Amino acid sequence: MSKKILVIYYTQSGQLEDILNNFTAPFVEAGNTVEKVRVHVAKDYPFPWNGKAFFAVMPDCVLSVPTELKPFQLKENKYDLVILGYQAWFLSPSIPVNSILNDPAVKAVLKDTPVVTITGARNMWISAMQRIKKILKDADAKLVGSIALFDKHHNFISFITIFYWMFKGKKGRWLGIFPTPGVSDADIKKTADYGRTVQKYLTGTNWDGLQDELIEQKAIEVKYNLMFIESKASKIFAIWANIIAKKKKKTAWLVAFKYYLLIALFIAAPIILTVDFIFFKPFLSGRIKKQKQLYSGVH
Ligand SMILES: Cc1cc2nc3c(=O)[nH]c(=O)nc-3n(C[C@H](O)[C@H](O)[C@H](O)COP(=O)(O)O)c2cc1C
Repeated sequence: MSKKILVIYYTQSGQLEDILNNFTAPFVEAGNTVEKVRVHVAKDYPFPWNGKAFFAVMPDCVLSVPTELKPFQLKENKYDLVILGYQAWFLSPSIPVNSILNDPAVKAVLKDTPVVTITGARNMWISAMQRIKKILKDADAKLVGSIALFDKHHNFISFITIFYWMFKGKKGRWLGIFPTPGVSDADIKKTADYGRTVQKYLTGTNWDGLQDELIEQKAIEVKYNLMFIESKASKIFAIWANIIAKKKKKTAWLVAFKYYLLIALFIAAPIILTVDFIFFKPFLSGRIKKQKQLYSGVH
């Protein structure tokens, strides 16, 4: 029987739309009704970004301050599945996605409805995902699948290349030397396989086992080093965000945050990771395994 599926998302560059088109192709092929809603914000963020605007959104991302959205319409009151496309901004759900999840019409369709989330990130999506899980739980939605696509290059490389992409507006190779930023074309195409897996469950009523299959397919994979850095950074970002949000003159503080970020990533993180690798990680394998299960799971 044909099912009704809502795909709701925000994207700046179109990467997330590309991911969702590939992911949902099997649902369309199977004859389901797939309603895609690309949400826009009332006062859009610049793309390409400039440095000032980019860092200025940090406090609102971290503190979950929503923004006004352009009006959008959902065709149905109830769907068999909602697919939420989201992106992480400063280790948090992006402001537009947070605003989508705040919308009364979206909250209404989420209630008692199976949801699959899918992100296209640089490589630090865990904290944002954990916060989205909480928002979905509060909305009485039933999270049945969670997919995370990210840039597989080294953390330093993906940091450099994403800035080239975000500040030039082109998902291209900087100087012809650096790799293409963001989620690779191959990984984007592969989401059709994850879509086929979800389609299998869509025909039944029991979603148990879907996430395990997605994990098996590597639709979501937690990398220890990134998980470690993110767990520390998300706490520190919250401190920065709370301080900066209270300041009348924010510019100097945002510049300080920018330099903190560079020092934290390129100098502090490698040192802390090395200390952890020698003194802590070898004795914490049970805890690390549990954390990985938590972050790649749907509970
Ligand atoms: C302001 C801003 C902050 C970002 N912060 C993160 C982050 O903390 N972690 C991450 O993995 N990616 C981060 N990204 C990358 C996005 O998650 C996403 O991959 C990229 O913006 C492309 O998404 P799009 O489909 O909206 O164009 C950030 C991007 C922007 C614009």
